[in-house]
Amino acid sequence: MNIVLMGYMASGKSAIGKVLAKKLNLQFIDLDVFIEENEGVTISELFQTKGEIYFRIKEGEYLKEILKKNTNTVISCGGGTPCYGNNLEIIKKYSISFYLKASINTIFERLKNETSERPLVATIGVENLKEYIAKHLFERNEFYEKSNYTISVDHKTIETIEEEVVALL
Ligand code: S3P
Repeated sequence: MNIVLMGYMASGKSAIGKVLAKKLNLQFIDLDVFIEENEGVTISELFQTKGEIYFRIKEGEYLKEILKKNTNTVISCGGGTPCYGNNLEIIKKYSISFYLKASINTIFERLKNETSERPLVATIGVENLKEYIAKHLFERNEFYEKSNYTISVDHKTIETIEEEVVALL
């Protein structure tokens, strides 16, 4: 069975996915990295040159390719992955999914210093960032909440979160 980690930007999907895969002796795929490797450019460059819609189409295609081809793989999604097309349906069909739930404050504190690598928030000033996160998270929560399990990640170490995931399997 595959394990999919979803959640907002900076919720720890990649870091936890890596540790989790190692612990369970499973393959690890970070969807953003997979897209970058297959497209030969960074996510930021992809947004700049081809636009978000092209990115969303590719994101859905690669997600399906990974989930249909692999078993016993931990997949860390991008923040928007479950919110577009039929991605959530595919995730539900081919994996056990976890929502790594971070609060607006946690996300803000983590994102405020590293917006430049993230195209969706790169142009949003720090003074508007919290409001942006709050609205965006409100829109996306209904998708995230459809995962099999929700784990709150605020004030927890990667190891604690990883142990909570393992205990739920
Ligand atoms: C996005 C999140 C990013 C990346 C892209 C779009 C989003 O991934 O897929 O910039 O829509 O939230 P991370 O959640 O790993 O930052």
